[in-house]
Order: sequence, then structure tokens, then C-alpha cells
Amino acid sequence: MSMPTVDDAANVLADPTAYADEPRLHAALTALRARRPVARVEAPGYQPFWAITRHADVLAVERTDRVFTNWPRPVLMTARSDEMQAAIGIRTLIHMDDPQHRVVRAIAADWFSPRAMKAMGERIDELARHYVDRMRDTGGECDFVREVAVNYPLYVIMSLLGVPESDFPLMLKLTQELVGSDDDELKRATPSDETASALLEMFAYFKDLTDSRRANPTEDLASSIANATVDGEPLSDIDTMSYYAIIATAGHDTTTSSISGGLRALVEHPGQLRRLRADPGLMPRATEEIIRWVTPVKAFMRTAARDTVVGDVTIPEGDSLLLSYVSANRDEDAFKDPFRFDIEREPNKHVAFGFGVHFCLGAGLARMEIGKFFDRLLPRLRSIELAGEPELTATTFVGGLKHLPIRFELD
Ligand code: HEM
Repeated sequence: MSMPTVDDAANVLADPTAYADEPRLHAALTALRARRPVARVEAPGYQPFWAITRHADVLAVERTDRVFTNWPRPVLMTARSDEMQAAIGIRTLIHMDDPQHRVVRAIAADWFSPRAMKAMGERIDELARHYVDRMRDTGGECDFVREVAVNYPLYVIMSLLGVPESDFPLMLKLTQELVGSDDDELKRATPSDETASALLEMFAYFKDLTDSRRANPTEDLASSIANATVDGEPLSDIDTMSYYAIIATAGHDTTTSSISGGLRALVEHPGQLRRLRADPGLMPRATEEIIRWVTPVKAFMRTAARDTVVGDVTIPEGDSLLLSYVSANRDEDAFKDPFRFDIEREPNKHVAFGFGVHFCLGAGLARMEIGKFFDRLLPRLRSIELAGEPELTATTFVGGLKHLPIRFELD
């Protein structure tokens, strides 16, 4: 990897195309960790921020949630999108801080508890088998992302939420436009204000769902949220719709990217694939390594409530910080041989699910979906190879492979 200058390196963090070019991205992040681990970024079109690239600093910031708040800037967006989202008034778990965050998070928490996951195990296993069958039915060659990986987590999360199956394609389109809005291929046809218009369309859909679940409660997560009370009051419409939006968007692209990126990593490391096929007991560790390797959520942000030192830099009150999970998960000080894909890695203290009070609510579900998919796929896989060049999404937020052409033999 050639070493870029640290100023150029810092700018990649606000450059969606850099995330579609992993050698370029990792050269820059490696340089930052070594030479400027807390780096000021002033990129055209974005409000300035500090990039935090070391694992230890990411943990330190997440741990100090009273000082480093999620409000008002939890996600890196262009200054224009920052303004538009503020105008729409979206307020999800990732925009909230304790004590409010804790109370609102508790509304959905039972749905993702270890007990709930255990109860869902058989159903997820059935779905995993179904999607492996669908893969076989493509006839031995497919774009694995488009034809297999995208549909399975979408099915799981939308069924849990309570969206009818006929609307899954609409949800897929809207969530991809929302989180993948930096990628030319995934953008809306009308290039301007695409994030806001996808969000408004999604909110209109969720307004109807809220009204319907309040009028006729059913046994789904949408009903639990629509009929929950905080201090004796129901959530406002905007808070209910925001809740649906965070579950819908967080719940599938992330897992889809992990499954696709995991399959690619196994194809590119045939020794690891053989090892995992020979010993399915390694699946929990392999799942963690896949999630570290892919890191589908690239970063979240925090804002300093007062002047605070991170590393050896004083962050002034009101400035925001970008926590680069991609960089932290390749930190030489936190992982032995971080650029080695090792399904037996132990310990594996990756931060792909974040850390602290905002730790991913769906981590257990994501792990189960990924593990069960490979549990079902690997024993049936006779051969597999790439059938073209894999392509990554251009995004500074959530993404991974958008195309993975493969050729395979499956029983
Ligand atoms: C939060 C990653 C799957 C729901 C987060 C955060 C990350 C993350 C990094 C922020 C944590 C922080 O700020 O410290 C991932 C990854 C996934 C995944 C890598 C898949 C491999 C899911 C799934 C759901 C989900 C399947 C299902 C609903 C959420 C929610 C939050 C969240 C609701 C906000 C939690 C809060 O702010 O309290 N996730 N996620 N995620 N995730 Fe996930």
C-alpha cells in the first residue's frame, strides 16, 4: 500500500467513492492511525468533523456518552442533507441520548432479546434453507447480492416489523435509496434531494402503518411500537415513524452486506472455507470474523457537549467526531494481523456493532441470520468461484458489496 499524505488521507472519510476502493481506503486509514489518529476533516460540502481512527479512541468516545452525544449529528451526511433531515424532524434511537434514549430503546428491546432470538431460531433456519434453495434454483451462476443475499434479511426484518410481503420490494427500494444515496447506481432517478424524498415517501408509508396498528393492534413489532407509552403518553407520530424507519433501514442492508462479504471472503480464502466446512462448530467465531472483516456500518458520529481531550487533541465543545469502525477493526494495536481473514480469530473485540449504550439492538439477530445461512449453505456447496469482478457500494455510512457474480455447484 502506498502511503498518502495525512491531509489527503483524512479526506477519504468524507468521500463515498473511497469506500468502493478498499486498497485506497485502507492505505489512507492505516496512515491516519499511524500519523494522525484524531484528524480534522474539512471536506467540500460537509460540515467539518474530527476523524477518530484508533480502536482505543473509538471505545473511549463511545464509553463517555454523557460528553459525546448522539444529538444532533449521529451520521455523516452532506451539509445539505443535514439541514433537510433536521427540517423533516426525524428522531430515531440514534438521534437520542440518555435518559430518553434508554426509555425509548426499551420499547423494542424484548423483540431482540436472547429469549426472543431463541424463539425465532427455527423460523430463521427455515428461511436460510429456503434462500439456499433459491440460490440453487438460479442454475449455478448468479449475482449473489441481488438474487440471494438482499432478500433474506429483508424478509426477516419486514416480517418481524409486520410489513405485508407485497410491500417488501417497496421497502427495499426506499431503504436502499436512503442509506445508499451516495451511490450513483442506487440513487433516485431525480438526483437532487434524493435522501429527503426517499425519507418522505417512507414516512408516508409508515404513517399509514401507525394508524392501522393503533386502530387494530396485531402481534407484530409495529403494533408494540405504535401502542407503547412513555410516561403514560403514546409516542408521537413522528417518533413512531422514526422508530419503524430505524428498524427497517438498520435491519437488512447491514446483514445482507455481511453475508455477501462473508461469502466473498470464503471464496477468496479457500483454506478457510475448507476449515469451516470441516468443522461447523467454528461458525460462531467465523461469524464474528465475517462481521469484523466486512464492517458494514462504516461510521457513526458523536458531538462534544464540552471541551474534551481525545488522544492528544482537545475537541472543542460543539464539534463532531466520526468514529471510523472500518479503521478501528483493522487497528494493528487491537488485532493480531488485522488484514488476515481468520475464521478462528480469538479474541475478536471488533466494534462493527458499536459499543456502549447504543450497541446494536439487532446484533443477536444479525449473528443468527449470518450463522444459519452459512450453516445451511456450506454442507451443500460442491464448488464455488467468482464469475466476475465484485463491486462495492459508494457510501460513507452503510454498505458493502452491491454485486458479487459467482459460479457454483450446490446439492
Ligand atoms: C445500532 C451495526 C444489524 C438494529 C447499530 C450501530 C452499529 C450497528 C455500528 C451503532 C452502535 C453505536 O452507536 O455504538 C450493525 C451491523 C449489523 C446490524 C454491523 C449486521 C451485521 C442490525 C439488525 C437490526 C439492527 C439486524 C435489527 C433491527 C439497530 C438499531 C440500532 C443499531 C435499532 C440503534 C440502537 C441505539 O441507538 O440504541 N447497529 N447492525 N441492526 N442497530 Fe444495528
